[in-house]
Amino acid sequence: MRKSNQLLIALFLFVFIFAACGTSDETPSETSTESETEELTLTLEELEMYDGTNGNPAYVAVDGEIYDVSDSSFWKEGAHNGFQAGRDLTEAIKNESPHGVKNLERVPKVGRIVD
Ligand code: HEM
Repeated sequence: MRKSNQLLIALFLFVFIFAACGTSDETPSETSTESETEELTLTLEELEMYDGTNGNPAYVAVDGEIYDVSDSSFWKEGAHNGFQAGRDLTEAIKNESPHGVKNLERVPKVGRIVD
C-alpha cells in the first residue's frame, strides 16, 4: 500500500474516534445538573438542629419555607432580638417584628418544611 493511502486511513480513523468520544460525554452532564437543583426538605423536628449555635447553620421557617440566616450580621449565633433560629417564626415575624416578612427577601430561601 502506498504511504499516502496509509496516511489517509490513519486520518479517517482519528476523526472517527474523536467524533464518537464527543457525543458520549453529553448525556451524563445533563443528568448531573438535574440533581443539583434538588430542594432541601426538613420536618420541624429536624429544623431544630439548625439553630445557629456551635457552628450549626441558622435556618428559620416562615409560612412553610426555610430561610438561611447564617450569614446575617443581625443573627449572631442564630439569635435575633430574643428569637432563636431552628424554629418556625411565622407568628413572630408577622405579629411581633417591626419589619414584617419583607426582610426575608434579604436572606436566601433554601427549602421547605414537610410533615
Ligand atoms: C421583636 C422582634 C424583632 C425586631 C425588633 C427585629 C428587628 C430587626 C432589625 C432592626 C433588623 C435590621 C434591618 C432592618 O432595619 O430592617 C432586622 C433584620 C431582619 N430580621 Fe428582624 N426583628 C425582629 C424579629 C424577627 C423575626 C421573628 C424574624 C423571623 C425570621 C426576623 C427576620 C429578620 C431578617 C431575615 C432580617 C434581615 C437580615 C439581614 O438583612 O441580614 N426578625 N430585624
